[in-house]
Amino acid sequence: MAKAKTPPVPAEMLPKHIAFIMDGNGRWAKKRGLPRTAGHVEGAKNFKKIVRYCKDIGIENITFYAFSTENWKRPDEEVSAIMNLMREYLVEVRKHITENTRFIVLGDKSAFSPDLKRGFDSIEADTVDFNDMTLNMAVNYGSRHEITGAVRELARQVQAGTLSPEDITEETISQALYTKDLPDVDLMIRPSGEFRISNFLLWQSAYAELYFCDTLWPDFSPKDLDEALIAYAKRNRRFGGV
Ligand code: FPP
Repeated sequence: MAKAKTPPVPAEMLPKHIAFIMDGNGRWAKKRGLPRTAGHVEGAKNFKKIVRYCKDIGIENITFYAFSTENWKRPDEEVSAIMNLMREYLVEVRKHITENTRFIVLGDKSAFSPDLKRGFDSIEADTVDFNDMTLNMAVNYGSRHEITGAVRELARQVQAGTLSPEDITEETISQALYTKDLPDVDLMIRPSGEFRISNFLLWQSAYAELYFCDTLWPDFSPKDLDEALIAYAKRNRRFGGV
């Protein structure tokens, strides 16, 4: 499909998979004397802007950290504000269903309210054949939780006699993760001045290039993304070779 916008680097130098940690919403709100929830509202708006831009320049896979397994510890009001933003987003995704974007949830959906879980399940099913871009939303996601689940599943198969321990490979483990069939992360971006990965896609980012910047997520613009992509294109990825 023709690109709607020219990327800042030649297309072959673009990452195939970008992971975003949408950090800094709370600080963005605090700086303005607003409640933290206002920061998440802006964060969700910006998420849509960045999704649009990624699609326009031809990024094939994008993953956003929207809610971690640890985020349940936040005040109830904040948790429900984030859940409501997801509900609203699911309605919007339906309106853009002609976009040919596949929507995948990475995370344990069983913890969500039945309406939200149904919403996630149905949008995943209805977009399963779309292939211009894959948009992954990590919700109730934690890498250790994901890997633990994968180990349990493989152990069950060994116990049932359908898998021998010798046949467990990096590939069988990859296929037991939420991200099965997705390429590894090439570029992980964390704005807001923190230098952590915070339990996000640990297995999938084994060779990812990490990019940190000071901008708070609600202000992270297509121009900031261009800078990250230019920095990425200059990196010398060796994957353990020389
Ligand atoms: C981290 O910033 C952000 C989150 C834990 C939530 C992110 C969720 C959204 C942007 C909305 C999700 C919904 C859609 C539709 C994408 P923080 O609150 O930890 O910021 P702080 O470090 O400044 O406090």
